[in-house]
Amino acid sequence: MIQFVLFGITGDLSRRLILPAMVRLFAQGKLPELTILGFGTRDWSDEQLRQHVAELLRTLPGVPLKAWERFQERIHYQAAELSAEGLQGLKQLSGDAVFYLALPPDLFAQAAQALGTLGVADERSGFRRLAVEKPFGTDLASAQALNQALHAFWREDQIFRMDHFLGKAATQNLLHVRLANRFLEPIWNGYHVDFVQITYAETLGLEGRARYYDRSGALRDMLQNHLLQLFALVAMEPPARLDAQSLRIHKLEALRAVRPIPPGNVDQFAARGQYVGYRNEPGIPADSRTETFAAMKLYVDSWRWQGIPFYLRSGKRLAADAAEIALVFRPAPAAPLGTLPPGRLVFRMKPGALELWLSTRHGDEAQQLRLQAALGQEPEYGAYEELLLALLDGDLSFFPSEGEVEEAWRIVDPILRAWQQGEPEPYEQGSEGPKSQHALLDPGDSWDPIGK
Ligand code: BG6
Repeated sequence: MIQFVLFGITGDLSRRLILPAMVRLFAQGKLPELTILGFGTRDWSDEQLRQHVAELLRTLPGVPLKAWERFQERIHYQAAELSAEGLQGLKQLSGDAVFYLALPPDLFAQAAQALGTLGVADERSGFRRLAVEKPFGTDLASAQALNQALHAFWREDQIFRMDHFLGKAATQNLLHVRLANRFLEPIWNGYHVDFVQITYAETLGLEGRARYYDRSGALRDMLQNHLLQLFALVAMEPPARLDAQSLRIHKLEALRAVRPIPPGNVDQFAARGQYVGYRNEPGIPADSRTETFAAMKLYVDSWRWQGIPFYLRSGKRLAADAAEIALVFRPAPAAPLGTLPPGRLVFRMKPGALELWLSTRHGDEAQQLRLQAALGQEPEYGAYEELLLALLDGDLSFFPSEGEVEEAWRIVDPILRAWQQGEPEPYEQGSEGPKSQHALLDPGDSWDPIGK
C-alpha cells in the first residue's frame, strides 16, 4: 500500500489534473494500491473535500464517475500548516510513500524542508519520493537554490520534477519514432536537416492565472521547460539504453551543447511580443511588459548539429492551437523536375499526427506528397496519467534532472536579463504573433504559418 501525500489538494492543479488522472487510472485497474492523504489550509472534513473535488470532476470530460464513487473513500483530508510542527503526524508514517507538492512555487523549498526535518525522506521502511510541480525556479540562481534546498534532505533519485510535456503521447511518440526506425538515424543530423522548428501556439489566454502569468511570461512558462525538453529529445544523441540514466545524460549533453546567447546581441536570437489587450485583462497591470509570445534561435555545438539553427516559439491568443516539431530537410542539389519545397518530417502535437513530406512525380510535374498518420488526441490529463504511473513505479525517465533544469535556465538567462529593458512588440489577438520573430531566421528559413 502506497501513501500518496498530496499537498495542495484543494487547489486547481489537483482538482483539474492530478485527481482526474488518478480516477481514470483507477477505473482502468492501472493504479497500484494507494491511499491519498491531502493537505490544505481550509478547515474541511473528508466529506467536504470529496464534495469539492466531485463537483469539478462532474464537469470534466472522460472522468469515470462510477469509479470516483469507490475511489473517493481512499481520500482523506487534513488542514495543516506547512511546517515540521504542522505536519508532525507524518512522523508515524511507515512503508512506501510519495509526497507530491502541488503548491505555489514559493512553498516548494519550505515543504521539502519541513518533510525532511521530520525524517520522512528516510527509506528504511519503504521508498520515499518527492514530486515537485512547475515552475522550477524563475532563473538560474533561483533554480540552483531550490535544487540545493531539496538536496538538503532528498537524494536526486528521490526527486521527480514534473514537466507534463514529457508525459504527452506526442512527446513519447517523438522518441519512439526516432529510436524505433533505424533508417531515420542516418538523416537525423545537420548533413540532411536544414533547420528544426518547434512551435507551441495557443488560442487560449490567461485562464484566470493573471497573477502567476504576469510574473512569468512565455519564455519562463513554456520555452525554458517544455520546449527545451522537446528540443533536447530531438537534439540528443540516441541513447544505447532506454532507461532514465541514459536518457537524462543524453538530454543534458544536448542542452550543454547549446551555444550561449551573447548578452550584447540578444535581439538576434530572441523575439518577444504581447497581445493587444493583455494590459486590460483582469489582474494585469496597465503598464505590464510581460511577454505573451517568445521565440528563440539556438545553435548547438555538437558534431550532429553544428551550424544548424533550432527555432523555438510559443505564444498565447494566436491564430490557432497548433503545435509541431518539424525537421526541415535540405533541398536536393539537382531535382529532375524543378525544385519543390524541401522535404520534412513533422510531429504534430494537437491533435497528434506524424507527417512525412516527399517530392514525387505526377505526369510531367513535380508534386509534393504529404503522408500523414493521425496519432490521436489525449484528454488534458493524459500526460498526468503517464507521469503518475512512472512516479509510482519509480521511473525517472520522463522527469527532468537537476542538471537539465539548470542548463535550460543557463540558456534562457541572458534573454531574461536583456528583456528587463525595453518592451515586447504588440501583436493582434488571433494573429501569427509579432513580426520580430521573422528577424531571427537565417536567410532562406521560414516559420510555418500557424494553423494552416
Ligand atoms: C503549462 C503552462 O505548463 O502548459 C500554460 O503554464 C500552458 O500556460 C500549458 O497553457 C500548455 O500545455 P497543454 O498541455 O495544456 O497544452
